Amino acid sequence: MRKPMIAGNWKLFKTIEESVALLDELKPLVKDIKNVEIVVAPVFTSLSRVSDAVENSNISIAAQDCYWEEEGAFTGEVAPKLLINAGCSHVIIGHSERRQYFGETDSTVNKKVRAAINAGLVAIVCVGELLSERESNRTFQVIETQIIGALSGFNADDLKHIVIAYEPVWAIGTGKTASTEQAQEVHLYIRELIAKKFNPETSGAVRILYGGSVKPDNVKNLMEQPDIDGALVGGASLKAESFAAIAAFNV
Ligand code: 13P
Repeated sequence: MRKPMIAGNWKLFKTIEESVALLDELKPLVKDIKNVEIVVAPVFTSLSRVSDAVENSNISIAAQDCYWEEEGAFTGEVAPKLLINAGCSHVIIGHSERRQYFGETDSTVNKKVRAAINAGLVAIVCVGELLSERESNRTFQVIETQIIGALSGFNADDLKHIVIAYEPVWAIGTGKTASTEQAQEVHLYIRELIAKKFNPETSGAVRILYGGSVKPDNVKNLMEQPDIDGALVGGASLKAESFAAIAAFNV
């Protein structure tokens, strides 16, 4: 019922040429994968060229961030409609690296998600606790604050254009994946929160991705969990072979 999504977050890696070359390698490897939504998120400067490169393929393009205004005197920012203009269908919002290094807050995440879905993008909204928060038993409280903050003012229809990504910060780029039990219990908690805030139908339909050291050898176990609907992949998305192997988790 929920179509799995495998998304690659390329972060600050790869030139335009390297991005196009990676997709040229990836396209034939994933072309026969059915019933999985495959998305990659290159850096802003590559978006337009990369969108051309994936035309007529089963790969969609995401940006890694956006601003909430449509236009104006906002030096350095990029508006959702310009992402669509560059060929994006998705945008990642509130990644923990943006929260940690660039002052992203639940309030800015909320404004960006609103603007993104108003413009017609699917927003991939990231949440996740720090190691210190997990160790002090505050994981659920942190996740609840982030989810409620990100989704404040939204209705059930809006949720059709939102994908949640649970990325425990301590599992990002560390090689430490959350155990399947640790991931599943947070995914279930998020789904229950959404059922409470919206309704059971909305919570049953919303996709919740796991991110944090997802690799070809752990994706299958993660995807077997009832509330894990996909993966947001960093390091392993930078190589065609490993990303394709992750996208092929069920073949
Ligand atoms: P890694 O897969 O490199 O741990 O990164 C996860 C991530 O941050 C995806 O957004």
